[in-house]
Amino acid sequence: MSRSDPGSAGIPPAHAGRARGPRSQDCEAAAGLHVERLSRHFSGVKAVDGVSFHLAPGETVALVGPNGAGKSTVIQLLSGVERPTSGRIMLDGRRIDGLAPERIARLGLGRSFQTSRVFPALTVWDSVLLGTQAGLLRDGHGGGRLANPLAELAGELLGLPGWRGRRTRAATRAAAALQRFGERLWPRRDQPAFSLSYANRRRLEIARVLAAQPRFVLLDEPAAGMNPSETAELTDLLLALRAEQPALGILVVEHKLSLVRRIADRVVVLNQGRVLATGTPAQALDHPEVVEAYLGRARTRPVESDAHLG
Ligand SMILES: Nc1ncnc2c1ncn2[C@@H]1O[C@H](COP(=O)(O)OP(=O)(O)OP(=O)(O)O)[C@@H](O)[C@H]1O
Ligand SMILES: [Mg+2]
Repeated sequence: MSRSDPGSAGIPPAHAGRARGPRSQDCEAAAGLHVERLSRHFSGVKAVDGVSFHLAPGETVALVGPNGAGKSTVIQLLSGVERPTSGRIMLDGRRIDGLAPERIARLGLGRSFQTSRVFPALTVWDSVLLGTQAGLLRDGHGGGRLANPLAELAGELLGLPGWRGRRTRAATRAAAALQRFGERLWPRRDQPAFSLSYANRRRLEIARVLAAQPRFVLLDEPAAGMNPSETAELTDLLLALRAEQPALGILVVEHKLSLVRRIADRVVVLNQGRVLATGTPAQALDHPEVVEAYLGRARTRPVESDAHLG
């Protein structure tokens, strides 16, 4: 297990211009998502406090920790919903903290929310079709530039051939994303999202993210509310996704350590906004300090059960 390195190269506040130290140059050149000394304070609450880690293409990293550790806040920061108090976030060498969430999505970073954000009145199909938009805009306009929403609308209304092709591609992506979940979602594609079970809403949330064909996905508790067999099914799905898309980077926040142990290449343990430990699942999760942080007391046996972590 390695510990976080509070003494690493100083990183300027998020919006104070680029640092030019050796480490910063490394990160600017490197592919993947680099989080450097990231902090987010909410009037005295240090939700995230100097967190550094990276996610390489093709890698699966699990972000774990007790309730209130700062995991969702990290996801909010990475996806642009929250702005950092200090620190910075690099995506393939480009600084992304400070960009709007839509820009970040169009650069290929997709996220799910801890609480499902499906629009209840939309059908399952339309919800996933909506998810294709980030990918569509990236394809259609190149380089992550913003499309003109009026042109989008006009294209939709006029049904121009180019737009028709894009709509067909969007439908293909939406169908693939739904069919990934076997019989769970596809037969229900014409039903309103509100009619889905809680577990199926979680699945729809993931399908919506995958429909955009992101290069990096951030999943906030994808197995919340799922029973052990449903959790195992989701774990298999994520393993299949990795096998199919070897360059996909996955950051998964999850309390269910059975899932974490099976899919994570590396685990980053947060506690009270700080990195407590990093390492392989066995190294990080079985460390006595991590067990203690979860349970509030020392244990001698490794943490096996999911039950106390939800
Ligand atoms: N918008 C906000 N305003 C004020 N405090 C916040 C805000 N968002 C998060 N916090 C606080 O920051 C801390 C970290 O919250 P966060 O939601 O990131 O934890 P978490 O690790 O995701 O927890 P959980 O496992 O329960 O989902 C908590 O103390 C929380 O109350
Ligand atoms: Mg959370």
